Amino acid sequence: MVNPGESVLVESPVYAGVIPMFSALHCDLVEVDTDAKGISSESLRRVLENWPASKPKPKVLYTVPYGCNPTGMTAALERRREVLSLAREHDFIILEDDPYYYLYYGDAPRVPSYFNLELEQPEVGRVLRFDSLSKILSSGIRIGFLCGPEPLLQAIDMHTAVASLQTPSLTQTISYALLNAWGYDAFKQHTEAVSQFYRGKRDVFEAAMKKYLGGLAEWSTPEAGMFFWFKLRLGADGEEGDSASIIREKAVEKGVLALPGTAFLPNGQKTAYVRASFSLLSPEDVDEAIKRLREVVLDAQKAQ
Ligand SMILES: Cc1ncc(COP(=O)(O)O)c(C=O)c1O
Repeated sequence: MVNPGESVLVESPVYAGVIPMFSALHCDLVEVDTDAKGISSESLRRVLENWPASKPKPKVLYTVPYGCNPTGMTAALERRREVLSLAREHDFIILEDDPYYYLYYGDAPRVPSYFNLELEQPEVGRVLRFDSLSKILSSGIRIGFLCGPEPLLQAIDMHTAVASLQTPSLTQTISYALLNAWGYDAFKQHTEAVSQFYRGKRDVFEAAMKKYLGGLAEWSTPEAGMFFWFKLRLGADGEEGDSASIIREKAVEKGVLALPGTAFLPNGQKTAYVRASFSLLSPEDVDEAIKRLREVVLDAQKAQ
């Protein structure tokens, strides 16, 4: 879909796993802002309307619309509609990477995927949707499935055949047997139970954040997925500060593992944001981890 030297649009911050993929294709990553409502259609419009006439326009936009990795945010319905209409207007394909779709636990009804929303339009074919079983059947099972325009699906099939022959037969067989035995209703029930499990984890994590990092960090509450994205209050007034050495060195020294926000910025900018995953820890460990993180932040503030 892209040739060396071409530009691709990526939400920013972006899932760190795709940065080396696009870099290996020698693409230029163009960042589109995001906020608590997901990708900013306004920022996207600005980028596209100011696109230099001398450069080919981007053909793809990469986004993680539910429980984004790393920001935890879920794209609002009106944003999705605007992004879809920009895709039509400026002729690009939305790469909808959605492994956390089934991990939605918000109070409001679930909004449709880009793929489903596009079906309401008179013309379809601008969404390539990626689902994953890694977050709902077994972590690391590495089985996904795709929906999208047939020529692209065929090209991906051919690519897989030359890149890795095929997805391992063992995990395919296990997944097939399980899904077949369950049927759709039991699959849906299972995913609802998984999402409620993560909702409980989110609540425990947020309670510890309020207890120890109130006034020291700011965040928006995630309604899907397994990530908390929060901004540490580090810098002197008016300065954002940088979480990198604090998280990579000081927090690690105290046995706390998180990722500094810079890992998710394609151009490696400094940022005070941090991504923490709440998928694995017990409530006691969450409490202890955030308590230790509080000490790290207080030390960093003192050192200013
Ligand atoms: C946004 C995103 N895409 C893709 C993946 C990889 O998923 P899979 O294990 O299905 O390859 C992850 C896993 O962390 C992810 O967060």
